Amino acid sequence: MLVAPSILSADFLNLGSEVRLICEGGCDYVHIDVMDGHFVPNLTMGPVVVERVAKVASKPLDIHLMVEGASFFVDLFAPCKPEFISIHIEGEKHLHRLISQIRNHGIRPSVVLNPHTDESLLKYILTDIDMVLLMSVNPGFGGQKFIPNVLEKIRHLKELILTKNPNCLIEVDGGVSDKNIAALQEAGVDMVVAGSYIFGSSDYKNAIASLR
Ligand code: DX5
Ligand code: ZN
Repeated sequence: MLVAPSILSADFLNLGSEVRLICEGGCDYVHIDVMDGHFVPNLTMGPVVVERVAKVASKPLDIHLMVEGASFFVDLFAPCKPEFISIHIEGEKHLHRLISQIRNHGIRPSVVLNPHTDESLLKYILTDIDMVLLMSVNPGFGGQKFIPNVLEKIRHLKELILTKNPNCLIEVDGGVSDKNIAALQEAGVDMVVAGSYIFGSSDYKNAIASLR
């Protein structure tokens, strides 16, 4: 299981040391939640902060865009050189074009689905992406409760992926902890995001290891 701690739950007054601690603690990616106050009712960080995070992180960045007009933000965050940029399918009129825009920056494209969004919408786009991110909470805030219906969605998505693009990863984001990690793994998840579970623990290394 790949583990991507979400720095949304980190101590922002000590962000540099928090990022170093999770990287030294053995995480695989550093998950960055970008919120614009429109797509979700919250506002987080811009490229000035993310560029600083990229400088101290010894692991690649996994940027999750929760924004309206994602095309502008893709170009804004591309200089931070993340491994992945995830964009929400909801309300995106030209998903294929946006995916090509991400790929043209040399970044791996990923598509995010909110809890209510049907995974079958990905049928004709799966061959073009490297990852699907399934939200297991409503995006906007850390520390929310895991929505168990996502387990069924993971199983259906896994079947679709096996027929269309077996190399495509499944990532799950929201309410992930040691309580549901076994069920997620069994359903077919490759990577989890965890914010409050990791940053709320007294030992990040142990918390990361418990998910792996
Ligand atoms: C929610 C974010 C998540 C969040 C996860 O909108 O996308 O990445 O930080 O936090 P936890 O693990 O606390 O649910
Ligand atoms: Zn996220």
